[in-house]
Amino acid sequence: MNQSPAPDASGSAPIHEQIYARYRAMIEQGQLKPGQRVSSLRALAIELGVARGTVQVAYDRLLGEGYLISRGPAGTFVSEHTTPAKPERAKSPRAAVHHLPLQDTSGAMFEMEGGDPAALQLGLPALDEFPRKLWARLMAREVRKAGSLNKPAPAGYAPLREALAAYLHRSRGIDAQPTQVFVVPAYTAGVALAVDALKLTGASAWVESPGYPPTSHTLGRIGLQICDVPVDDQGVDVGYGRQHFPNARLAVVTPSHQSPTGVALSLQRRVELLDWAGKRGAWIIEDDYDGEYRYRGHPLPALKSLDACDRVVYCGTLSKVLFPGLRLSYVVVSPSLVPSFELACRRTVHGGCPELMQAAAAGFIAEGHFARHIKRMRTLYARRRAMLAEALAPYAADGFTVHLQDGGMHLLVDVRDDLDDIVLATRAREAGFAVHALTAWRNGSPGRRGLLMGFTNIRNQAEAKRLVAELMRAFDLAA
Ligand SMILES: Cc1ncc(COP(=O)(O)O)c(C=O)c1O
Repeated sequence: MNQSPAPDASGSAPIHEQIYARYRAMIEQGQLKPGQRVSSLRALAIELGVARGTVQVAYDRLLGEGYLISRGPAGTFVSEHTTPAKPERAKSPRAAVHHLPLQDTSGAMFEMEGGDPAALQLGLPALDEFPRKLWARLMAREVRKAGSLNKPAPAGYAPLREALAAYLHRSRGIDAQPTQVFVVPAYTAGVALAVDALKLTGASAWVESPGYPPTSHTLGRIGLQICDVPVDDQGVDVGYGRQHFPNARLAVVTPSHQSPTGVALSLQRRVELLDWAGKRGAWIIEDDYDGEYRYRGHPLPALKSLDACDRVVYCGTLSKVLFPGLRLSYVVVSPSLVPSFELACRRTVHGGCPELMQAAAAGFIAEGHFARHIKRMRTLYARRRAMLAEALAPYAADGFTVHLQDGGMHLLVDVRDDLDDIVLATRAREAGFAVHALTAWRNGSPGRRGLLMGFTNIRNQAEAKRLVAELMRAFDLAA
């Protein structure tokens, strides 16, 4: 079979989009079968008479969305798991219920994580400022205790659950007993735990668009139908979700600092969302991944603190406030849900979190280091954020406009209309930058274009300037 789409150079869509759309359609319609090898980048570029980079952009997106899978030198193949789930009927033709490939695509999206941090990497705390000596001391102390080498308790190490409950009460306005806190190895594991405990497999779920890709990837993979709900300057558009996806039984939201736009969910929307969940008997997963980092005013209280009807499952993580290699996240539920979450914890596939790490983290929090560290990082990040914004300022004339958000660990840089953010992010990645395109966080659907850049590991102004100058060269705007 001829796999090659025929791009139309005079068409309105860019060539890489035409290649992407054609391949996606061929996979969805079964013309390209799971496991089938597709042409190499080079072969397809020659065949179509286009630049290799153009094919690369299309392939990257197909890889990122899980339609294709790369097996290194063996080549690129159609994913084994591309059968779409049955969609909820959309009320309006504009309302997108999209089918997600079952395969884990987050690896492709976040391929630059692991090992040394990449330049401008997102979501990574300042690794140079982590108190390693103190951490080593806590670990050394814990490793001498017999229990720390045992198999972990399914719901988490009791002293860590206690320390987290006390911290959440102090800092996030959440009243929870330690037994309501469940320790999991990742945010996505917390989402999967909630879906299992609440018996949501097969249900429809609102997700924010744009939104953190692992959320929809995980939900899609464990059998939920994804309903994209747009985000505006007040956060997720609850009215839109209600109108277009009335049968949804779950909404996953980032109320304190929407990922990735940075807007805070307005009070009116918070009330609307809780009201929807209460009346419909639906659930809300609150992903409070970096609510601590706010540079103007105080951190906003968690949505969970307003949850009078017990509909909110709160997910927090130590990845942003300590370090992501720790693999410690947690879920907080209402008392009535504790038994079903305890049961679900006993049947997870991951087998829990290492007790040694949990014990060190518990000591770090209970002994006051945590609060001090967060305070110090807040000041440091405000400075590093300003450095990156200042280094980008001269490029406003070239169409790169920084919108400083009130919080967070990355900048969202608007990109002028005639530039394709996916192409820019691909070029940046080839030059070693872990910059993401906003369009990719919206599943490729049209809308505001932008680039996401982490600032937390920039050490000084000179480094910020050098990185931005290199990034602009990598964009190759003259091409
Ligand atoms: C929006 C969002 N949610 C959750 C997480 C936390 O993930 P984890 O706890 O698995 O490190 C991140 C980390 O980057 C994130 O950006």
